[in-house]
Amino acid sequence: MNAQIIELPKFLDRRGNLSFIEQFKQVPFKIERTYWIYDVPGGEKRGGHAYKENQEFIVALSGSFDVILDDGKEHKVFHLNRSYYGLYVPKGLWRQMENFSTNSLALVLASTPYDARDYVYDYNEFKKAK
Ligand code: TYD
Repeated sequence: MNAQIIELPKFLDRRGNLSFIEQFKQVPFKIERTYWIYDVPGGEKRGGHAYKENQEFIVALSGSFDVILDDGKEHKVFHLNRSYYGLYVPKGLWRQMENFSTNSLALVLASTPYDARDYVYDYNEFKKAK
């Protein structure tokens, strides 16, 4: 599975820290869209689908959560809890997000505009396509 955690630049400063992301640098794709997930009630799960084409880069800007990725063969859990780490999620992986801490904020950078036809919601269909 070629998903990976990428450490972002960080400028530690007594006035407060700063990190950044540039397309094609920290993130290996052109950023076409960004969205964020917030106010997640305790115990809720997000995702539970795959994208045919869309790639993502996920950062826990605040708090923590788990991203569970599955390529049809192996299953990996990535715990995100620092705003200077991002998770690169290539296309074609089943992905779920869970264990959101109170007040967590998940920033997602995406390589394609939103398109409902890019989603695969049926795990058996996903497995068959692999
Ligand atoms: P969805 O991707 O299903 O959320 P998750 O994978 O986190 O469970 O999106 C939820 C709703 O938001 C869905 O009805 C479509 C809408 N949406 C957009 O309109 N644009 C977007 O960029 C995203 C990510 C979602």
